[in-house]
Formats: sequence, structure tokens, C-alpha cells
Amino acid sequence: MTQQSRSSVRTVIVPAAGMGTRFLPATKTVPKELLPVVDTPGIELIAEEAAQAGAEKLAVITAPNKQEIMEYFQSFPGLEKTLEERGRFEQLHKVRHAAELIHPVAIEQDQPLGLGHAVSLAEQALAEDEEFFGVMLPDDLVLPSGVMERMSQVRARYGGSVLCAFEVPEDEVSNYGVFDVYDPEPGDPEDVRRVKGMVEKPEPAEAPSNFVATGRYLLDREVFTALRKITPGKGGELQLTDAIELLIQEGHPVHIVIHRGKRHDLGNPGGYIPACVDFGLSHPVYGPLLRRTLSRILAEHESDTA
Ligand code: G1P
Repeated sequence: MTQQSRSSVRTVIVPAAGMGTRFLPATKTVPKELLPVVDTPGIELIAEEAAQAGAEKLAVITAPNKQEIMEYFQSFPGLEKTLEERGRFEQLHKVRHAAELIHPVAIEQDQPLGLGHAVSLAEQALAEDEEFFGVMLPDDLVLPSGVMERMSQVRARYGGSVLCAFEVPEDEVSNYGVFDVYDPEPGDPEDVRRVKGMVEKPEPAEAPSNFVATGRYLLDREVFTALRKITPGKGGELQLTDAIELLIQEGHPVHIVIHRGKRHDLGNPGGYIPACVDFGLSHPVYGPLLRRTLSRILAEHESDTA
């Protein structure tokens, strides 16, 4: 297969330059992307998902004071040697895993000008013949993984750009980019809709649907041209949503894959804690004990409030 004809993504962009204010004080010294879900940082879960989707390169948009994210993907010769000498091969595998998954490249964003700006910086990381690329927001854990592969299939069929959507209740739409969609055509897959518009964080009354963008994008290279044209939008930031809306208005095909799995928002403690509980309960070692401990804690809290 030539590089051009392959349908899987080659580069995934991971915007990770945010200040992590919702996780202060921890984020004074630890980037939020390195906070562990059980024992594995969110950035490694993203790298794993990107590699599973076929990507070879992870273009990480970092801030000057967040070098630890790239260090995480390096080798640790001293630690590896000690673990090897002690026969701790399971731990050794864990230490090496991130570096083996994917090739990371760092791109610095020195000013927080928005998601659209962050993505635009990664154009330099793509090869000339790369017609499309992925964007994965590390705050969003989309489960079960595999939605990027489904999005690649949809792009192979319809061309253009493909985004992941969840259906959320009306009172939650204002937290997201919201899609205006066409009714499905006969023969269209049940989980796919063509998009006729996209709006960033509308008021519930103005939201065109309950389908919202959730951190997984497969974007045609054309989006870089649109990103050069947009002006600051919601919150005074350059919004990726506005570039996608512009593409749609220019006639570029944009589709969504409606993902009916579950999702965790690692961007704030209220979403991070349930993610840890969810992953912890599924963990072969910690799961059974955690289940008992959680039941006890819940009972204690219930008796406190009785
Ligand atoms: C960003 C995007 C938004 C999208 C959301 C998904 O918003 O701008 O369109 O729906 O991610 O998590 P943020 O959560 O960074 O404010």
C-alpha cells in the first residue's frame, strides 16, 4: 500500500499546552496529562489509542513549562537497568511501553490562543503527502477505544473530515462544539450523519442538535487553510470548531460518527475521579478490593447523611 492510499491516520495531534488550572495545586509541578488513571498517565492512554488507530507520529503541542510530557516518552537507562537486574520485567515493560508505542514530536505553543491555534501549529509536523491527520484531546477518554478506526472507515467512504460525536442531554450542550446534521440518507450507516454546520458552545436554546464533539477528529489537510482565515471566536480564542464550520460552508464534506460508548472527562477532578474508579474496578489486581472498599465508603457516607 502506498502512503497516499492508506486509509489509517499517520499523525495524531495532541493539544497539551493548557495550564490545568482546574487541577491546581497539583499542576504547579505536574502537567495534568501526566496524572495517572490507576497507574498510567492520560497521555499514554492517548498514545496507545493513536497507535492502535495506525498512527506513527504523535505531535504534542506543549507549553514551554511542560517539558515533562516529552520526557515521559524518553528512555530511562538507570531505572531500566535496575529493574532488569532485579528481574522486575513487568515493571520494565511498563517503563518502556510509552517510547515503544509511537514517535512523539514536540511543538511549542507559547501563548494560549485556543484549540484552533494549537492545531494550526502542527502543520509543520505533517509530511507533504499527508492528506489528513488526527486530533485527539487528552482530556477526553472515549471508550471502548476504536472510534478512530471507525472514523477512518467513514472517511474512506465519504472523504473529507470525520469527527466523533456523543449525544448529550440538552442542559450539557453548552460545554461543547455542537453539530447541525442532515437526516440520514437511505443506505447510510446508522452511526453516521453528514454535518451541515457546527457551533462552539451555544446556549441550549440555540443548539442545533444534541450531537456534540468529543475530542476525536480526523481532519482533511484543508483545515489548515481554514484555520488561517478564522478570527477569534468564543472566549476570544481561535476555535477549531469555527474552522470546521468554514470548511462546511465552503462545501467540504464533514461527517460525524455517533459513538454510543462511554466517555470520561479527565480535564477536571469531577471527571477524573470517576475515570480512576472505572478503570480501577476493571483492574485485575485492584478491582475486587476496590469494589469492596467503595461499597464500604458509600455505606459510611450514607450513614453520615442519614
Ligand atoms: C473543546 C472544543 C469543543 C469540544 C470539546 C470536547 O472544548 O472546543 O468543541 O466539544 O473540546 O471535549 P474545551 O473542552 O477544550 O473547552
